[in-house]
Amino acid sequence: MTLLRVFRYAPGDGRPRFVDYEVELPRGATVLDCLFSVKHEIDGSLAFRCSCRSAICGSCAMTINDANRLACKTQVGDLGKLVRVEPLVGYRVVKDLVVDMDLFWRQYRSIKPYLMGASPPRQEWIQSPENRKPLDEPAQCIMCGACSSSCPVLWTDERYLGPAALLKVWRFVADNRDTAREERLGMVNNEFGVWRCHTIFRCVDSCPKYINPTDAIENLRRAAVRQSLSGLFRRG
Ligand code: F3S
Repeated sequence: MTLLRVFRYAPGDGRPRFVDYEVELPRGATVLDCLFSVKHEIDGSLAFRCSCRSAICGSCAMTINDANRLACKTQVGDLGKLVRVEPLVGYRVVKDLVVDMDLFWRQYRSIKPYLMGASPPRQEWIQSPENRKPLDEPAQCIMCGACSSSCPVLWTDERYLGPAALLKVWRFVADNRDTAREERLGMVNNEFGVWRCHTIFRCVDSCPKYINPTDAIENLRRAAVRQSLSGLFRRG
C-alpha cells in the first residue's frame, strides 16, 4: 500500500491543499501509474500531464518527494511508504499538477533552437563521429523543464535564460555544422545569460536524463570569453 499525498488546486475552488490517497499497485508501479489509479478509481478530476510513458517526451515532470523527477520513470517502491507529489516549482499552477510552461518555451524560442548553417537545401550534412561527440550529452535533453524549475536564480528573476535554454545554446555552439556561433555567444554573454548562473548545481541533480547543464554553461562562458578577447585583439 502506498500513501500518495497529492497537491490539489483548481482556480475558483478555494485554497491549494494536499489530499491523501491510498493506492495498491503491484511491484514496479510508477508514480504515474499511481496517479492514473487515483484518476480512474477515486477522483476523475485530478489533472496531470503525460504522454509517452517512456521517459522520452518530458511531459510528466513534477516534484516528487522534494525532487524534480519524471513520474513515468520513478517507481514508488524506491520512495518509501509516503509519496508526496507537487507541480514543478517556479511556474504558475494551472490545475493540480499542471503548470503553465509559457515562460519555459519563450526562453527556449528566444535562443533560436535550430541549426543555422550555410549548407544548401536538400544536401545532406555529413558529420563525423568525432564531430558528433560533443553533442552526445546536450542532444539527450527532452525539454521536461525539471532543471529550470529547480534553479533558485530563475525563481527570483525570469529574465535569466535558465539552464535548459543555455544547454540548448551549447548544443548548437558545439555543432560543427552551425555557422551562427558568434550570434549565439552574443545572446548569452550578458547578465541574463551565462553570467547570471551562480553554479548552484540543482539543475544537474534534477535532470532525469543525467545531463549536466552546469558544464554546458561553463563551456559557453569559456567560449564567450575567448570570443570577447579575440575581438579585443582584432581591434588592438
Ligand atoms: Fe541554476 Fe544550475 Fe546555475 S541551478 S544557478 S543554472 S548551476
